[in-house]
Amino acid sequence: MRIQKENPMTDREQWGSRLGFILAASGSAVGLGNIWKYPHMAGQNGGAAFTVVYLICILIVGLPILLGELAIGRNTKLSPVGAFNNLSGLSNWKWVGFLGVASAFVILSFYGVVGGWTLKYTILALSGGFDALSGQPDISGEVFSEFIGSSFQPIMWQLLFMSFCIGIIVKGVKSGIESGAKIMMPLILVILGLLVFKGLSLEGGKKGLEFLFKPKFSDLNPSSIVMALGHAFFTLSLGMGTMVTYGSYLDKKQNLFSSAIWVILLDTFIAMLAGTAIFTIVFAMGADPSAGAGLIFVVLPTIFPQIGGGVIWGTLFFFILFMAALTSAISILEVITAYFVDEKGWSRNKATLLFGGVISLVGIFCSLSLGDFNITNFMQISFFDFLDELSSKYMLPIGGAVTALFILKKWSIPVFLDELLIGVKEKRYEKSFYQNVLRICLITSSLIVCLFIINEAFDLLFDQSLQKMAGF
Ligand code: PFF
Repeated sequence: MRIQKENPMTDREQWGSRLGFILAASGSAVGLGNIWKYPHMAGQNGGAAFTVVYLICILIVGLPILLGELAIGRNTKLSPVGAFNNLSGLSNWKWVGFLGVASAFVILSFYGVVGGWTLKYTILALSGGFDALSGQPDISGEVFSEFIGSSFQPIMWQLLFMSFCIGIIVKGVKSGIESGAKIMMPLILVILGLLVFKGLSLEGGKKGLEFLFKPKFSDLNPSSIVMALGHAFFTLSLGMGTMVTYGSYLDKKQNLFSSAIWVILLDTFIAMLAGTAIFTIVFAMGADPSAGAGLIFVVLPTIFPQIGGGVIWGTLFFFILFMAALTSAISILEVITAYFVDEKGWSRNKATLLFGGVISLVGIFCSLSLGDFNITNFMQISFFDFLDELSSKYMLPIGGAVTALFILKKWSIPVFLDELLIGVKEKRYEKSFYQNVLRICLITSSLIVCLFIINEAFDLLFDQSLQKMAGF
């Protein structure tokens, strides 16, 4: 039985325009995952071969779940806990919504710390601080480790980053999130475009294109496929109710399908632009392209001083990293704020300030865990890494899989399709055709995600993943 409870918040805010929504949703998707994680993952796992697998994951697993989250949000006009509660007739499915709120807590705790690093490096670049690191990756590595391992500095930057995030959310959906995205997303695109242009104009830069885009199928292994799948979730902000929350501010005129395609296209395009900018510069300067996660904070500061106008390019690069992190962080905090506003009747200010504060506090422990104050020594990884792994390997995929199962088992495909078709003018096929396509996509994506989760759980419990057992 479905209880169609009306949203008690009659004055619920809505996006001001379709463009505003697309920019806000792609702002959530475009983040550290695109500029920091994707380029080095693609570079090390077969270049274009990785990108092809990643795109397949995005289309088969990401798109159906993205559509599902947006439709659940718009249908109920409620944030995740209320939305699942409402559509399931107050059954246990509401825990899917609670899982989303919990994931938001976990992710923002460590995401805010890295957001702080992006601010620190923007200012370091602007003040000419990269000059002393020119051509010296070892020294740059030491400077970075010393910075993130120290007690005071990274916490100050993290708190500053979190204050920006809280400041935007307090202003509300239209004047805060949407206005912020309308300024920051075009800026990210334009600056990345300039950086790509600069990279390609440097001698030897084109070798970077080959590194990133030439398919090397021999470098692609089963673990790259698992990695591409996990990243598809993280990069599209799926599995924790962000898109349910953003969908709940949509009006019924919008075509959800074309909006979702726009979000995916922008997210993928920006990831590729970032990869192109980074690797053309790295290759032109003869730096090490396989530096992995340290590529951004360790290698890039050593090469910016060597290119003409390095202070400006370095500052611009870290500034877009900061903006990308901020537009994602606000979408994470909004999940928590919307929960307390919708379900507990709190004011937006109270919910944001209180929980923004609590998350900042947890973030302080995250940051401290990278230095001497490692409170999770017993788990052999830092608290920071623990939260990162917990969310991207378990919480988000589980959240995504149960959302797909919820639609299949509880909400029903015909109702989902009806919600999707609102705002679609041209309907080419019979409804039954679309229903079958949706059913197949959701079953496939939940099966793939279940395999992914089982694989990770095996790896964690027995240090033996399925792919290793299968002899790959
Ligand atoms: N999509 C963001 C990125 O690629 O960095 C991270 C993220 C944001 C994950 C929002 C989950 C989320 F709900």
